[in-house]
Amino acid sequence: MKSFSMPFAALVQGASRGIGLEFVRELLGDPSVDAVYATCRSPNDSEGLVSLSQTEPDRLRLVSMDLADEGSVAAAASELSQTGEDLHLLINCAGLLHDPDGMRPERRLSDVRPEQMIRSYQVNTIGPVLVAKHFQKLFAPRGRSVFASLSARVGSIGDNQLGGWYAYRAAKAAQNMITRNLSIELRRSAKDIICVALHPGTVDTDLSRPFQRNVPRDRLFTPERAARQLLAVIDSLTPASNGNFYAWNGTEIPW
Ligand SMILES: NC(=O)c1ccc[n+]([C@@H]2O[C@H](COP(=O)([O-])OP(=O)(O)OC[C@H]3O[C@@H](n4cnc5c(N)ncnc54)[C@H](OP(=O)(O)O)[C@@H]3O)[C@@H](O)[C@H]2O)c1
Repeated sequence: MKSFSMPFAALVQGASRGIGLEFVRELLGDPSVDAVYATCRSPNDSEGLVSLSQTEPDRLRLVSMDLADEGSVAAAASELSQTGEDLHLLINCAGLLHDPDGMRPERRLSDVRPEQMIRSYQVNTIGPVLVAKHFQKLFAPRGRSVFASLSARVGSIGDNQLGGWYAYRAAKAAQNMITRNLSIELRRSAKDIICVALHPGTVDTDLSRPFQRNVPRDRLFTPERAARQLLAVIDSLTPASNGNFYAWNGTEIPW
């Protein structure tokens, strides 16, 4: 990446699989990145992360962090602060749309389950704000830095023409509001930080797999391609991008 002062440290939150794992792989392939911190609930259970850490033992550090447990977010931030290194890029990747216990996006109002809405908020909305709360102090006070949260086009209120998916849409819309808030507050301690929401497109991961049937093949991205495209968007951000919502090709999405 050309836009950061070199060398720089990056953190990928939600890195065990899917797009997050590919962000880690891409960042490790970039000589301007000297350290990558990869977090998820159980990093040592992620084959992808374990294998990358064997090939890059000096540049990749695996950190356990459960977004549903504020103590674990605080502990991860404190572990990183002991390295003494400033953070210049943080990507919030973790997201939840469905789970093996029967959580599914709602097709109609009668499908709404309060406990599933709460779970969705926990990961999609509260997670990124807790990460901001505890990692804020790790961003350099000056110099380019980026705090990016993976959102979804379906979280855009202005773009919603189809309805349904109550929990996920609402949780991502709330995450978007948090990103906008952070774009104001984080600049008080990190003057040049840019906070954005990003839509990766439809990507072939566990999250989208049950919903890919109507997606044209050329619009279903591999996780590698999605990560590469979003890193290019991140690299192209300017101070004026702060507080905005961008798609994988750099176009702006209405809130
Ligand atoms: N795939 C798409 O088509 C698509 C489209 C639009 C937006 N997005 C967004 O892009 C992001 C990445 O999606 P993906 O497709 O890569 O998803 P994915 O393959 O399902 O991966 C989800 C990631 O979230 C982590 N996670 C889940 N619950 C967590 C928790 N409580 N604490 C910490 N980490 C947790 C998982 O880690 P564990 O190993 O700990 O479970 C995993 O690393 C999400 O925010 C998603 O909403 C994806």
